[in-house]
Amino acid sequence: MVLVDVSIVSAEFTGTITDSKMAEFTKRQIVKELILEVKNITKEVNSPEGALTIVKDVNLSIESGELVSLVGPSGSGKTTLLAIMAGLDLPSTGSVSLLGSEITLLDEDQRAQIRGLDVGFVFQSFHLMPKLSALDNVMLPLEISGIDDAQSKAEEALLSVGLEKRVHHFPTQLSGGEKQRVAIARAMVNKPKILFADEPTGNLDTKSSSAITDLLFSVNDLLETTLVLVTHDLALAEKCSKVYELSEGELL
Ligand SMILES: Nc1ncnc2c1ncn2[C@@H]1O[C@H](COP(=O)(O)OP(=O)(O)OP(=O)(O)O)[C@@H](O)[C@H]1O
Ligand SMILES: [Mg+2]
Repeated sequence: MVLVDVSIVSAEFTGTITDSKMAEFTKRQIVKELILEVKNITKEVNSPEGALTIVKDVNLSIESGELVSLVGPSGSGKTTLLAIMAGLDLPSTGSVSLLGSEITLLDEDQRAQIRGLDVGFVFQSFHLMPKLSALDNVMLPLEISGIDDAQSKAEEALLSVGLEKRVHHFPTQLSGGEKQRVAIARAMVNKPKILFADEPTGNLDTKSSSAITDLLFSVNDLLETTLVLVTHDLALAEKCSKVYELSEGELL
């Protein structure tokens, strides 16, 4: 085993560690890239009461590997902001740079391509295709992106969320926690660089919630996937490295 003197790499860290620890240290501490940059985002919509500004002049940035939570009362704009950050929706003004692409300048097809390759989503209400088995649900994004070995990759993803015995079940034959695990397997199967989760435990009981939270945190920890998590659970938010709070569309 090769021993490396880390002091030559970073003045902050001195000592001698193994080469594998060195690789991990380099990955985690030195190579941090800006993965998401939101500048002066505003979202206006038409409502029966007239024009409404539901996101107001939001600025934030997220680095690779970060674990970020977004909190705020119901109606404060969390889902709207998450959808804009993920390229699912466009702001009225402002810019979003996601994984180095200025997604606010791209058309829907170009944004879909970035989402398909590098972005995962998990929703509160699971959003599984009801007529597809767990396996087919997880295979879907691979098939859409034209990736080889879709079945074995989907089986591996289901195994990693502990659902190897539920592969051929349909969504109606799964519990809430199991459905969310299928949704996480589907979100992770492309090994995205960033995962957006909108109240992923909102429809689950306490036990399933903590299993799903552990799973999401382990995805962030082991795969170093950047995680942006909308939650009402302040205890959960506080476990994140960064907490953004929204109130009436504005970041506090
Ligand atoms: N297309 C739309 N047209 C009009 N109003 C909208 C539209 N989309 C969202 N809103 C309003 O914008 C506000 C923010 O909605 P959003 O769904 O982002 O809130 P949220 O913080 O995710 O709330 P919750 O915690 O209840 O999910 C709400 O008051 C909502 O009614
Ligand atoms: Mg919401």
